[in-house]
Amino acid sequence: MANVVVVGAQFGDEGKAKVTDLLAKNADVVVRYQGGCNAGHTVVVDGDTYKFHLIPSGILYKKLCVLGPGMVIDPKALLKELDALLERGLDAANLRISNTAHVTMPYHLALDAAEEDSRGDQKIGTTKRGIGPTYADKCARSGIRIEDLLDKKVLRAKLEWLVPRKNVQLEKLYNIAPFEIDAILDEYVGYGEKLSKYVCDTAELIFQSIGNRKNILFEGAQGTLLDLDHGSYPFVTSSSPTAGGACIGAGIGPTSIDRVIGVSKAFMTRVGEGPFPTEKEGEVGEMLRQTGKAWAEVGVTTGRPRRCGWFDAVLGRYSVRINGMDCLAITKLDVLDEFDEIQVCTAYKDRESGKTYKDLPSIGSRFQHMEPIYETFPGWKKSTVDCRSFEDLPSNARKYLDFLAEQLDVQIAIVSVGPKRDQTIVIEDPIHGPKRVLSKVAAV
Ligand code: GDP
Ligand code: IMO
Ligand code: MG
Repeated sequence: MANVVVVGAQFGDEGKAKVTDLLAKNADVVVRYQGGCNAGHTVVVDGDTYKFHLIPSGILYKKLCVLGPGMVIDPKALLKELDALLERGLDAANLRISNTAHVTMPYHLALDAAEEDSRGDQKIGTTKRGIGPTYADKCARSGIRIEDLLDKKVLRAKLEWLVPRKNVQLEKLYNIAPFEIDAILDEYVGYGEKLSKYVCDTAELIFQSIGNRKNILFEGAQGTLLDLDHGSYPFVTSSSPTAGGACIGAGIGPTSIDRVIGVSKAFMTRVGEGPFPTEKEGEVGEMLRQTGKAWAEVGVTTGRPRRCGWFDAVLGRYSVRINGMDCLAITKLDVLDEFDEIQVCTAYKDRESGKTYKDLPSIGSRFQHMEPIYETFPGWKKSTVDCRSFEDLPSNARKYLDFLAEQLDVQIAIVSVGPKRDQTIVIEDPIHGPKRVLSKVAAV
């Protein structure tokens, strides 16, 4: 029995879904604990590609799949995703939705888009899925929860207070036509009716599963550097993708987590705005973006091109620390196959003061002044897509991976060399391998 968190160690899109799908085979329950349909999680099985936004990636193994209380759920998007899965012959009988998860309402979507547009060159580059405004209402204690959709009277009472206030904001600040209470009420009660069979107290369900010694997989969305508290604020999402978020978002105590697996690409990408010290424009960036046409770096949710750059070991070390990571899965090693040289950022130089840092001094406003200091490696110039063991990999690829593990002071348990399930190298058991011990540096 092991309860495992799979967490994005970079700016999202690290390949969390591929790793979750891989581990889901031996899990009993797969739980999404935060975020909403801003996530785009890709799983490739037998030549079929599945793109999940709200539904946990474990659904392909027919595991109990939970949308936890920490999520924000757009019911229209969820029903669309469910319909698409059912059409492809998948079964949703194992789906459970938390009664206390918050609902993205139409005014949240309108506000997300309007706020973004009004920010001009200070925009965040959100996915415009209403994520920020939904979490803002949750914190302001003005949110609608899934259970409210199941009771027309309750929903009407809440909307009667809420909608006029949202309309003032929308009309006065953004010149957007007001919403009508009755129209929202009818539409969202309708969604409630369709979803009601999946709704339950998921925290209780998870508690029972833990008691019954089930294996529970917590599937993070987004990534550590997009975390509301620990990411590159304000260019973050509005939830807690980091491992600690699994406790809050699923409703379990920290003592129930046995293991934290981080997922990183062998390089780095970011969608949306915000600092990205190792970003490469020009030839290298384009090469990272375009390598392997079928899996070019384009956002799964928004279709925006991903910004690309070299692996940042400073941020990697930060991510290991913030998540209490036990081991790492490195994905997309194959994307580096054709490069003559590969760079890794091992330290930062503050552009203004000239001071150098091996570890991130703080993720506060100084982060944007950091310039990468690189070490350069010779490429391996050989395809890795058919490698199935560490020994199969070209010697320079092995050296590169060893260097990353040493830099981050964490064991690499999985290496992914392609999007398909079998394009995977398991170096050590990601679930039962040794727990990471604090490095000497941290201990003194
Ligand atoms: P997630 O949001 O972290 O689940 O990741 P995304 O699904 O947004 O993006 C990862 C993309 O990389 C998807 O298109 C995956 O199919 C693909 N992918 C995952 N692992 C590998 C790999 O090892 N090599 C290659 N070439 N593609 C991969
Ligand atoms: P997965 O789970 C990559 C980014 C957006 C934007 C910022 C805020 O597939 O890794 P939001 O809509 O959340 O308010 O946008 O966060 N972002 C992601 N980037 N992968 C994701 O999810 C993301 N979800 C949000 O691009 O910069
Ligand atoms: Mg993604």
